[in-house]
Amino acid sequence: MKKLVHTLTAKTASSVPPVWFMRQAGRYLPEYRDLRSEAGSFLDLVYNPDFATEVTLQPIRRYRMDGAILFSDILIVPHALGLDLKFAAGEGPILDTVRSPEDFEKLSLGKMEERFGKIYETVSQVSATLSEEGFHETSLIGFAGSPFTVACYMVQGHGKCDFPAALEFMRKDPEGFAGLIAILIETSLVYLKGQIEAGAEALQLFESWADLLTDEEFEDWVITPNAAIISHLKEFAPHIPVIGFPRTHREGDLLSFSKIQGLDGMGLTHSVNPRILEKLPATLVTQGWLAPETLLAGGDTLEKEIAAILDATKSRPHIFNLGHGVIKETDPANVEHAIQLIRGADQE
Ligand code: CP3
Repeated sequence: MKKLVHTLTAKTASSVPPVWFMRQAGRYLPEYRDLRSEAGSFLDLVYNPDFATEVTLQPIRRYRMDGAILFSDILIVPHALGLDLKFAAGEGPILDTVRSPEDFEKLSLGKMEERFGKIYETVSQVSATLSEEGFHETSLIGFAGSPFTVACYMVQGHGKCDFPAALEFMRKDPEGFAGLIAILIETSLVYLKGQIEAGAEALQLFESWADLLTDEEFEDWVITPNAAIISHLKEFAPHIPVIGFPRTHREGDLLSFSKIQGLDGMGLTHSVNPRILEKLPATLVTQGWLAPETLLAGGDTLEKEIAAILDATKSRPHIFNLGHGVIKETDPANVEHAIQLIRGADQE
């Protein structure tokens, strides 16, 4: 049984929750570093379906996670819209900028089919390999960045600060900024529908920079665009569950996000106070919220934190995950230990 998809659709608690980790594929794994250097660059890895399939499967081969997240990046959408993108070593992403409606001319549809096409090929290859190799319990998760978060990178051009240029554009010219958000809603929908058609069994929307906004701005730039995407997806494929991940610790914003029509699951970052669980609908699947730093540290703290999260979530539908991505210095042995602790109850 595919426990992750089952939890998201049946919305029932289970004694051992499904588990996967954000950034479960990545530089903490030596086999990732090997393929990454063989491919040459991060984008060469992402756009090569054979490599990207293998990278997606690396953590599944080691740990048999309940979720295999497609190996790609949220910045593939702006790249498919024709913006130059590179990932410089130690620098993070560097992207051509869009700072006003005049700059929308830089965006084009010419490269989209080819670039998205490579990603869809990866999705279908992962889907086929999971069944061929007997990973019948692992669900394939597709994803996209949420419009506001992707817009932050497109306006700023990098992620090395708190996106002042993006916030300035949004606050000085909200109508212009709404135009950019509209383009991203439309393009992300094309991308996510393509992933569903290629075999994605669940989707996650990453709103990584949700906490940069005031409560009112959160309604306009987080709730409204995510709700629009989810409502279209539900019309297109009602059976595909959607997890939203608004990365913020603010309770009011999270409660408001939890009410989005059609939302099946919500990711919680590690700074969220667990008391929120009492206020969230029993039919919303929660996901999270082990701190990546705790996974890095390992040892007693890791054991205690995992036990505390399992206890706090035992009577609700929950997917075990981190509050953000695996840190690259993490010892793969800590990941293995964490999975064993989470699944411990199964072996009794
Ligand atoms: O295992 C997985 O999680 C699947 C693949 C995945 C990646 N990025 C691969 C990646 C996913 C789901 C993402 C999402 C993503 N990308 C987000 C949302 C989640 C979050 O972290 O908040 C964001 C904001 C990005 C943008 C991005 N991509 C940044 C800021 C960076 C550089 C930071 C870093 O860790 O180096 C990337 C690069 C990136 N994306 C790497 C990986 C494995 C590292 C690239 C490398 O090999 O050098």
